[in-house]
Amino acid sequence: MGFLSARSERARLSASARAAQRARELRAAGKSIIDLSQGEPDFNTPDHVIEAAHRAMQSGQTHYTQVDGTPELKAAIAAKFKRENGIECKPENVSAGAGGKQILFNALMATLDAGDEVLIPAPSWGAYADITHFAEGVPVWIATSAQSGFKLGARDLEQAITPKTKWLMLNSPSNPSGAVYTGEEYRALGAVLERHPSVRVISDEIYEHVLFDGRRFACFAASAPQIAERTLTVNGCSKTFAMTGWRLGYACGPVELIRAMARMQGQSSLNPSSVSQAAAVAALNGPMDIVHRRCAEFQARRDFIVPRLNAVPGLACEAPHGAFYVYVSCAGWIGKGNIKNDADVTAHLLEHGVAVPNGAGYGLAPYFRFSFASPLANLEEACRRIDGAARQLG
Ligand SMILES: Cc1ncc(COP(=O)(O)O)c(C=O)c1O
Repeated sequence: MGFLSARSERARLSASARAAQRARELRAAGKSIIDLSQGEPDFNTPDHVIEAAHRAMQSGQTHYTQVDGTPELKAAIAAKFKRENGIECKPENVSAGAGGKQILFNALMATLDAGDEVLIPAPSWGAYADITHFAEGVPVWIATSAQSGFKLGARDLEQAITPKTKWLMLNSPSNPSGAVYTGEEYRALGAVLERHPSVRVISDEIYEHVLFDGRRFACFAASAPQIAERTLTVNGCSKTFAMTGWRLGYACGPVELIRAMARMQGQSSLNPSSVSQAAAVAALNGPMDIVHRRCAEFQARRDFIVPRLNAVPGLACEAPHGAFYVYVSCAGWIGKGNIKNDADVTAHLLEHGVAVPNGAGYGLAPYFRFSFASPLANLEEACRRIDGAARQLG
């Protein structure tokens, strides 16, 4: 018997973490690497949020708090859900944790038994499958295509549901495709779910405020209210307020689930940082103009890189409608030189000084994810290097 548990064997390193680690190693060895593997805004946290954190520390908010959020934070979260999404929730429906990721971890750990199935539209953020696997559930990828805008349709959802299906994961705007669902599309999925009362929905809305071309955000629970009482709506401060390092995510859902999630957190990390909670109150209750300005900056970067990536021989991508990633098809590179799959593609790109995660971790290959949460000069140089990598393949 080995020392490490079978459980630890089920905890995998994500594709983006692997790409970032490789980029760090190469940089340490003196190579110039543009790292586009991580999904975080390159902006700083707004000043008024930092000031609120400072005040909180000076006024003694440096102790343990309630496990899944202070009353002030829960009130700010409930107000946000009502104001921005039209969802009514009470403090007992709200949970705060150390990032959206911990919230998702708590929810899946609290609900999955061995063999339970989780439906995941492909491509999706790899953590959904990784956490499901860790919790002994079975990730069931449902392929989508560029033609359908990488969105799950009602028919494909219906076909994927089995008696073992516990959750459907939804994420709009999407990491990694930038797909954005409309209220109408959500209503069509809701109509299917009405016929399957045992299936629950996690709607991950963490990129809510990174939406392009004047699109309006559709919240799943508000769009399909008949499914709202079996929906966990997940959100967080990381992407909206450039607060990835503060670790503050939250959710609203049925009381029974919220209580079970708090028990998961109670046996692991306890409360999220008291200082981060105070900062999140200021972020959620504060002005949104800086968030909108940053979104315009992301849109300008998208408009800069998409034509450049499409001009590279063998690559093709759609302009994302939200979030800050482009999901790039590299089908045209497969079979060239030694390239057999998208892992070979990203290895080839790394040799040319660009670190990006390959599509396999997101459930749909052959692709790679290009993050434009990086200054324009970096993006320009990355596109130049990617073009060079293509031309070397011939
Ligand atoms: C789709 C999606 N959901 C949730 C998260 C979690 O973010 P955090 O744990 O920083 O709140 C991420 C982070 O990359 C993400 O891409």
